[in-house]
Amino acid sequence: MENRPLEYDYTIAKMFMLTTIAFGIVGMLIGVILAFQLAFPGLNLMLGDGLAEYTNFSRLRPLHTDAVIFGFTLSGVFATWYYVGQRVLKVSMAESKLLMTLGKLHFWLYLAVVVAVIVSLFAGVTTSKEYAEFEWPIDIAVVVVWVLFGMGIFGLIGIRREKSLYISVWYYIATFLGIAMLYLFNNMEIPTFFATSPSGESGIGAWYHSVSMYAGTNDALVQWWYGHNAVAFGFTVPIVAMIYYFLPKESGQAIYSYKLSLLSFWGLMFVYLWAGGHHLLYSTVPDWMQTMGSIFSVILILPSWGSAINMLLTMKGEWQQVAASPLIKFMVLGSTFYMFSTLEGPIQAIKSVNAIAHFTDWIVGHVHDGVLGWVGFMIMAALYHMAPRVFKREIYSKSLMAAQFWIQTLGVVLYFTSMWIAGITQGMMWRAHDEFGNLAYSFIDTVTVLHPYYAIRGVGGLLYLVGFLMFAYNIYKTMSSRPVEERELQNASPMGA
Ligand code: HEM
Ligand code: HEM
Repeated sequence: MENRPLEYDYTIAKMFMLTTIAFGIVGMLIGVILAFQLAFPGLNLMLGDGLAEYTNFSRLRPLHTDAVIFGFTLSGVFATWYYVGQRVLKVSMAESKLLMTLGKLHFWLYLAVVVAVIVSLFAGVTTSKEYAEFEWPIDIAVVVVWVLFGMGIFGLIGIRREKSLYISVWYYIATFLGIAMLYLFNNMEIPTFFATSPSGESGIGAWYHSVSMYAGTNDALVQWWYGHNAVAFGFTVPIVAMIYYFLPKESGQAIYSYKLSLLSFWGLMFVYLWAGGHHLLYSTVPDWMQTMGSIFSVILILPSWGSAINMLLTMKGEWQQVAASPLIKFMVLGSTFYMFSTLEGPIQAIKSVNAIAHFTDWIVGHVHDGVLGWVGFMIMAALYHMAPRVFKREIYSKSLMAAQFWIQTLGVVLYFTSMWIAGITQGMMWRAHDEFGNLAYSFIDTVTVLHPYYAIRGVGGLLYLVGFLMFAYNIYKTMSSRPVEERELQNASPMGA
C-alpha cells in the first residue's frame, strides 16, 4: 500500500493552466495595441468617436497591467501551486474532499472576479491607484479568493506525508502572506455612499465608489510600498518558487546549494519591504525615506543574485542540456533576465540615475525585461513541463517550442533595447538647457524623436505575442492528442495503426 505511487489530482491545476493561457493572450494583445497606440496615436480612435472611450490608451492601459498581473501571472502561480504542492508534499488533492471543493471554489470565484475587473475597468470604474484599481466590492471578493488560496496551501501542508517543506513551499507561503498584507493595507478605502459630506449630505456618488483612507504623501507611500512589493511577491517570490522546482526536475540536477536558497529567501523577505521608496525619489516623501529606499535597493542585489546564481549553478557540468532542450533554455535565459533586471533596478534606484530615468521609457524597459524575460519565460516553461504530466500526453512539438524561444527572445531584446534608447534620450532631452537656463527642447520634440523606438517596441511586443500564441497552440495540440498509454497500446498491438 505504502509503496504504491500516489495518483495526484490535477483538476484544479489544469483549470488554472487554461486561464494562464487565456489571460496571457488577452493581456499581451492589449499590450501590443498599447505599444502601437503610442507609436501611432491615431489608433486611439480605432472604433470611431462613439466607441473610442473603450479603446483609447488610458482605458486600455490598466486592463493590460491587471490582465497580465492578476490574470496571467497569478493564474500561473495558482496552476503551479496545485501541481507542485501535491508533489513536494507527497499528498494528493483527491485525498481530501474539502480541499477539492475549496480548490474549485477558488477557481470559479477567481474567474468571476477577473470578469468583474474587466467589465468595471472597461466601464471606466477605477480607484486610479496603479495595480490597485478595483473598487471596494471587487476588493472584498479578492480577499475571499486569497483566503481560499491560503486554505489550499495550508490545507495541503496540514495533510502532507513529507515532513520537511521543500524550499518552493516556503516561497509559495511567502507569496500568500506578502500579498495578503500588502493588498489589505493599500486598499483600505471608504465607500462614499456610506460617508457623510462636511455639509451633512450622505449617500454621495455611485454605490461602488470609494476614496482611499490615506491622502497625499501618505497615500503615495502606502501605494509604492504596495506597488514595489507586488513586484516582490508577485513577480519574484512565486517565480523563484517555480524555478526551484521545475529546473531541478527538468534537468535531473539537484539544486546547487540549499543553504544559498534559504539565505536568499530571508534576504529577499527582509530587504524588499524597505525598498519601495525608490519609486518616490525627489518627491514630497521625507528625504531619509528616499535614501533608505535607494540603499535597500542596492542591497537587494545580494539576495536576488543569490537566487539567480543558485539557479544557474544548478546547471553546472550540464550545460549541454541548455543547447539540447528548449525548455531548459527558457529557464536558464529566464534566470539570466532575472539577474539582469535586478541589477538594472538598483542602478535606477540611485538618486542621480533616477533623476534621468524616472518618468521615462527606461523604466518601462526595465519592467519588461523582467516580466517578459523572467516572469513570462518561467511561467511558460513551468506549463510546458506540467503539460505532458497532467494531460498524460507528449508535448506536441519540440521544434515549435524551439522556434518560439528564439522569436520571443528577439521580441524581448527589441523591446528593452528600444526602450533603453528611448528612455535615456527622453531623460537627457527633458533636462537639456541653454546658457540662460531655458529648456532646449519642447515636449513635442521628444515625442517626435521617440517615434521609431516606439515602433520597434511594437514589433518586439508583437513577436512576443506571436511566440505566446505558438505556445498556446502547442499546449492545445498536446491536450487534444491521444493519451500516451493509448498510443503505446495501439503500437504494441499487431493491428495498431
Ligand atoms: C533588485 C531588484 C529591483 C530593484 C531594486 C528595482 C528597482 C526599480 C526602480 C528604481 C524602479 C523605478 C522607479 C521610478 O523611478 O519610477 C522600478 C520600477 C519597476 N520595476 Fe523594478 N527593480 C527590481 C527588480 C524588478 C523585477 C525583477 C521586476 C519584474 C519582474 C520589476 C518590475 C518593476 C515594475 C513593474 C516597475 C514599474 C512600476 C511603475 O512605475 O508602475 N523590478 N524598479
Ligand atoms: C506582448 C507583450 C507586451 C507588450 C507589447 C506590452 C506593452 C506595454 C505597454 C505599451 C505599456 C505601457 C507603457 C507606458 O505607459 O508607457 C505596458 C505597461 C506595463 N506592462 Fe506590458 N506589455 C507586454 C507584456 C507584459 C507582461 C507579460 C507583463 C507582466 C507579466 C507586463 C506588465 C506591464 C506593467 C507592470 C506595465 C506598467 C509599467 C509602468 O508603469 O512603468 N507587460 N506594457
